Amino acid sequence: MSEATTLDRVLVLELVRVTEAGAIAASALIGRGDEKAADQAAVDAIRTRLNDLDISGIIVIGEGERDEAPMLYIGEEVGKGGPDIDIALDPLEGTTITAKAMPNALAVVAFGEGGTMLRAPDVYMDKIAVGGGYEQGIVDLDKTPAENLAAVAAAKGVPVSELTACVLDRPRHTELIAAIREAGASIQLIGDGDIAGVMAATNPEETGVDIYFGSGGAPEGVLAAAALRCIGGQIQGRLLFRNDDERGRARKWGIEDLNRKYDTEDMVSGDVIFAATGVTDGSMLNGVRLTEDGYTTETLVMRSGSKTVRTIATEHHTGR
Ligand code: FBP
Repeated sequence: MSEATTLDRVLVLELVRVTEAGAIAASALIGRGDEKAADQAAVDAIRTRLNDLDISGIIVIGEGERDEAPMLYIGEEVGKGGPDIDIALDPLEGTTITAKAMPNALAVVAFGEGGTMLRAPDVYMDKIAVGGGYEQGIVDLDKTPAENLAAVAAAKGVPVSELTACVLDRPRHTELIAAIREAGASIQLIGDGDIAGVMAATNPEETGVDIYFGSGGAPEGVLAAAALRCIGGQIQGRLLFRNDDERGRARKWGIEDLNRKYDTEDMVSGDVIFAATGVTDGSMLNGVRLTEDGYTTETLVMRSGSKTVRTIATEHHTGR
């Protein structure tokens, strides 16, 4: 077992309490058609829990910039004081999924040692990711989908036709999808939730997914990198800018090379703990269930230092 660091093992259970609270709060809004209310419920609950912790936390990936997000904005300080912690969070990953009562909505938070997480602006990021066991750099955003698929297939010892790629179902991915199919792989299209999509590539036996391709939120890219630091695997990301305002946001966070490719460790470099609680049922986790006097939750919590991966099933006897 690796030594406890700033991210003392005790914090692992504290982090679980944080994401559980977010998931329970959001669960009241499942299927209600109101993305914003569901997100707000998770944000409020997570912020309250974070402010209860003995940490000096700073939100590095949050709900947006200060002028657009009243709570959990980038740069907001949370906690009662203690070790310096970088916090990356997506209180409700899958707001639309939750509003429509569809699978795979999660409450996600990662804690890193102070100053170790990329301050990514809220722009799109081009991403490619595979699970553990591959040589570092096996996939690269500068290679074509066919080249990346061929490299993964060769390493796995299977033909490309036996590989499955996971891609967000978006019109902007029409060419990418055609190129993957042209190369011979099959595609699992997802409606939302690319943190779960990237994580699916770490467990092909269960999920059937070998590789993740495509663009999604940059904040979700950093959170996916945090997950892979714990669970194994590699992600590469490159920020995508649609206008000068977005370029300006990146510069504001100190990003000078706007075309830089970020590897997993460029996004999350120190020890990190990652927790995700299911809001709706999903491929990894069950969602929040109502019981006679409360709720049950399922949470995946992982720590990079020890590579421990735990699934915690909790009964909450809240006397609802
Ligand atoms: P939200 O929970 O903020 O709605 O994000 C869901 C999501 O699917 C992310 O997982 C993904 O990174 C992003 O949206 C993709 O953005 P877009 O919907 O604009 O393609």
